[in-house]
Amino acid sequence: MTSFSATAVACANIALIKFWGNRDSELRIPANSSLSMNLDGLVTRTRVTFDPSLNGDQLTINHAPASAEGMGRVKIVMDLVRKMSRLDTFAEIASENNFPTGAGIASSASAFAALSLAASAAAGLQLSERELSRLARRGSGSACRSIPTGFVEWQAGHDDESSFAFTIAPPDYWDLVDCIAVVSETHKPTTSSEGHKLAATSVLQRARLADTPARLDRCRRALLERDFGCLSEVIELDCNLMHAVMMTSIPSLLYWQPVTLELIHAVRGWRESGMPVCYTIDAGPNVHVLTLAGFVDQVCQTLSQIPGVDNILIAKPGGPASLDL
Ligand code: PMV
Repeated sequence: MTSFSATAVACANIALIKFWGNRDSELRIPANSSLSMNLDGLVTRTRVTFDPSLNGDQLTINHAPASAEGMGRVKIVMDLVRKMSRLDTFAEIASENNFPTGAGIASSASAFAALSLAASAAAGLQLSERELSRLARRGSGSACRSIPTGFVEWQAGHDDESSFAFTIAPPDYWDLVDCIAVVSETHKPTTSSEGHKLAATSVLQRARLADTPARLDRCRRALLERDFGCLSEVIELDCNLMHAVMMTSIPSLLYWQPVTLELIHAVRGWRESGMPVCYTIDAGPNVHVLTLAGFVDQVCQTLSQIPGVDNILIAKPGGPASLDL
C-alpha cells in the first residue's frame, strides 16, 4: 500500500457566547450552546500522511515533537477516522500555527478542525460539514465551530449526533474586526480541558447555564441586526460570567493579568466616548477587542499605547476549514 496524504487549513475562532463545562467530557458534549466568529488569517495548517511503514502516529506542532497530552487527543480523532475508513495504518501529522500557541487564542480549535479535515480526506472519506464538525469536537469542543464559515453557532445537543456547529451568517455579513491585544505569549497554567472539569465546582455555574439560552438569543439577534450596542452588552456579560465561574471554581482559576483588567477599563472608557468597541476574553490573559472595520486603525493605535500590550493581531470574520489542494 502506498501512502495517502492531505493538507487542510482552518481558522481560529473567538466565542462571543462562551462554552465552559462539559456534560460529557469523553464525547465533549458541552454544558451549553455557544456562538463564535472565525478569525481570518489566524490559521493552523495540518498535513496528514498515512504511511504503512509507521508503528504509531507521529505528531509535530510547529516543527517540534508534540507533548504526550497533545498526542493523546490527536489519537482520539485519528482512531475515529481509522474506524470510519476501516484503515489500520498510522500517520505522520505535521501541524503549524501562524499565531501564539496556548495563549487564549484557541489554537486547539483551529488545530483540531484542520486535523479532522486533513485526516478524513487523506483516509479517503468524504464527510459532510456536520460530520466534520462532530469529529473536530472530539479533539477540542470549540474546534467544531472552526469547520463552518463565518459566524457560527454550536448547538450543545444531547449526544454525539446532535452536538455540532453551523453557520448563522457568512463572513461578509458584518464588518466586525477582532483586534487581539496579546499580553503574553506563554502557555496558560491550566488548559481549558482541565478547566471544563472544574466548572461544576463553582456555585455560579448553575446560574450562568440557566441564563445562557437567553444570552445566546440576544447575541444571535444583535449579530443578525448588526446592532453593535446590543452585541457589546451581551458579549461582555457572557465573558464576565464565564470568568466569574472560573474564579470561583475549586481550585480557583484566574486567567487575567493586571494588564487584562486595565484593558477592560480602557475599552469601557473608549466606548463611553463614542467608539464602537467591546471586549471578550477566553481562557488566557489576552483581550479580544471587537470593533467595526472603519475604527481598526484608531483602536490599534490606542491599544498599542498601553504598556504591557506586546502585540496586536487583527482578524476579520473568517471562512470555513478547507483542503489545500
Ligand atoms: O475547546 P476548548 O476545550 O479548548 O474550550 C474553549 C473554551 C473557551 O475558549 C474559553 C470558550 C469557547 O467557547 O471557546
